[in-house]
Amino acid sequence: MKEDFYYQQARSKGYRSRASFKLLQINNKFSIFRKDQTIIDLGASPGGWTQVASHLIGGNGKVIAIDKSYISPFKEKNIEILNKDILNRNLPTIILESYGKADGLISDCSPNITGDFSRDHSIQISLARRALALTQYLLKDDGFFICKLFQGSELQEFMKEMKEYFEKTKLHKPAASRKKSAEIYVVGLKYNDRKDSSKETEKSE
Ligand SMILES: C[S@@+](CC[C@H](N)C(=O)[O-])C[C@H]1O[C@@H](n2cnc3c(N)ncnc32)[C@H](O)[C@@H]1O
Repeated sequence: MKEDFYYQQARSKGYRSRASFKLLQINNKFSIFRKDQTIIDLGASPGGWTQVASHLIGGNGKVIAIDKSYISPFKEKNIEILNKDILNRNLPTIILESYGKADGLISDCSPNITGDFSRDHSIQISLARRALALTQYLLKDDGFFICKLFQGSELQEFMKEMKEYFEKTKLHKPAASRKKSAEIYVVGLKYNDRKDSSKETEKSE
């Protein structure tokens, strides 16, 4: 079975999760990551995406891996761990003060699945909206955004919101994502904060 294949591959390559292959496949399709970039990874635990991002950007780049759950330390020197909830209002300030703006913000955040699809979808969308809101504080111009969503009633509305900030937006389900799972990934390229002036009050939190 496919899940066994990616699970085994992750083990043999030393990745912490089979999710690593989703990010690799997204990058293979869209050629997003570059050497020396700064990347913010939301919902990073156990750390498969963080490892992939770390390797793609190389030793002169930096990945800031953030999760409300514990993330065990990495051997890679270009990774910083922040044990924080992404809903924490101070998160933008904490990141900006220590690291400045990033070239890419990636989010694989998801709730604990309850099996109640509309509830899970709604929590997932609110996590994705928080991640999108964080791009407005934390992304450099021309930066990129990769974010997990569940396919459902709010997906198209979310894509409309993405289009306000990114010149190019794509939806992609990588082969490593289980077919029966509703998850899908949105990719935003070339961040451009056209709404800047109207957001000043919102930004002063
Ligand atoms: C599917 S896992 C991420 C897997 C990870 N990308 C990897 O490759 O190993 C989803 C993560 O989102 C995190 N998460 C969910 N809600 C969060 C929140 N409000 N703040 C921070 N992390 C959150 C969970 O703790 C969980 O570790």
